[in-house]
Amino acid sequence: MQLALCTWPEVDAYLTRSKGVIVPVGSTEQHGPTGLIGTDTISAELIARRAGDAADILVAPAFPVGVALHHMGFAGSMSLRPETFIAAIRDWATSLDRHGFRRIYFFNGHGGNIAPLKAAVKEISAELNPGRTDEDRLECKVHSWWQFEGVHMLCQTLYPEGHGSHATPSEVAITQYAYPDSIKSAPLEPRIAATGHFSGPQDYRAKFPDGRIGSDPLLANPADGEKLVDAAVAGLIVDYQRFIRV
Ligand code: NI
Repeated sequence: MQLALCTWPEVDAYLTRSKGVIVPVGSTEQHGPTGLIGTDTISAELIARRAGDAADILVAPAFPVGVALHHMGFAGSMSLRPETFIAAIRDWATSLDRHGFRRIYFFNGHGGNIAPLKAAVKEISAELNPGRTDEDRLECKVHSWWQFEGVHMLCQTLYPEGHGSHATPSEVAITQYAYPDSIKSAPLEPRIAATGHFSGPQDYRAKFPDGRIGSDPLLANPADGEKLVDAAVAGLIVDYQRFIRV
């Protein structure tokens, strides 16, 4: 159930049976020569919508631009500053809270969003919860799609080598499944990208010149993407339902 496709009376009716909502949180950033700029938003949004349709969960619009300052050395990447991101997430949560939502599950698709999302959740709680009864408290959760046990195990099985940590075959596979008309190909040299640490966008580009870290995204295919989405949807439904009972 997508918020954008509901009317306000439908949202009113939903609130009589649930106080929970999923907010997919993505990013707009380079994902190597074969990965889509929108990978992280596409992944979080698709999995959230599938879970929402399967389990009668309201899904808010996807938050499309995250904190991706380290990707700014590559064309097309966009980033919010952490303080802007936190302020915007606070405003989204405050809006939902005002209508009676009391469980907001931030379903994340980008590693760089985790720290600012957790900071935002602390601010939201400090701002909205003082003076409220336990029953009326707003609770927020932050979870990323690759953190579910079933997804983690599937990634290890599908990609025992070359999974890496950025422009991974798993995230690329999900976008290939979501948008089969936008599957890209390019020669990758070396096939498995280097791994390591970096500091800032210039150093990132110098150390990882095509944008990948540790990955071989040519391993990706749409069938893998479907399996990964199914595993993530199953994980999300269970975790969300546990969360809203808190
Ligand atoms: Ni990504």
